[in-house]
Amino acid sequence: MQEKNIQVNHKNIFLRTSGTGPVVVLLHGFGEDGRVWKHQYNSIPGFRFIVPDLPGSGRSEMVDDTSMEAMADLVKAIIDREVGKDEKLVVIGHSMGGYITLAFAEKYQERLLGFGLFHSTAFADSDEKKMTRQKGIRFIEENGPESFLKTMIPNLYGPMTKPENVEKIQYHLSLAHNFSGAALVSYYMSMMQRPDRTSVLRNAGLPVMILMGRFDQAIPMEESLKLAYMADISYIHMLDKSGHMGMVEEESLTNDLLTNYLTRMLKTTQPG
Ligand code: MLT
Repeated sequence: MQEKNIQVNHKNIFLRTSGTGPVVVLLHGFGEDGRVWKHQYNSIPGFRFIVPDLPGSGRSEMVDDTSMEAMADLVKAIIDREVGKDEKLVVIGHSMGGYITLAFAEKYQERLLGFGLFHSTAFADSDEKKMTRQKGIRFIEENGPESFLKTMIPNLYGPMTKPENVEKIQYHLSLAHNFSGAALVSYYMSMMQRPDRTSVLRNAGLPVMILMGRFDQAIPMEESLKLAYMADISYIHMLDKSGHMGMVEEESLTNDLLTNYLTRMLKTTQPG
């Protein structure tokens, strides 16, 4: 695995890259950094993984515009530099990373062989979800970002995997000091403003992987299931023990499912 900083629009963006083969970009979610994918980029052979820290997360500098569209432009700038302007690739996003993946698919579909939504949704925020985010913003302002994330993170794990994933949850909690309140609030505002992108799924015409967790409280299973019939070609999986963090909670099963998707999808999109 290699780590490096690159400059995108005069900002430092931190990337991890590993492996060789078809390119797979892994986008992390809210209050996380690229290390949530470490069980994938360190373990799955046969692919070249590119895993950025999104601005204001991990080791990447914050930017003014954190809209899902601006993040899609940032991902495009990263791959133009790292891969070239012509090669097609796969983007997989966890939760907020999935919202960015959909914005990317809307703007730059010609760059994609397929994409994946892990514990994510193509629907816009409901009014209820927006109210919950407003409360979250008040909590961040009153108690600080670390306290907010430390309250949120344990709830991302399903009750069945919590006992066996104690160390992984501790590790996740140890990353919580890394965020500014301004970055978390900015991402919350951007998620509230993101539009419904179900039409992107319906019109993609690409193989789409959808991964959901039975105990996900952030993206309830009922919502993920509604996405299942939208794409023409879907690889849909329910992780029976997971909450919102399947790639950490059921790491080995997730890796098998992801490898299967990537391998089968590449066979159909790149014959010969
Ligand atoms: C995430 O994990 O990225 C968030 O749960 C997404 C969200 O709040 O909608």
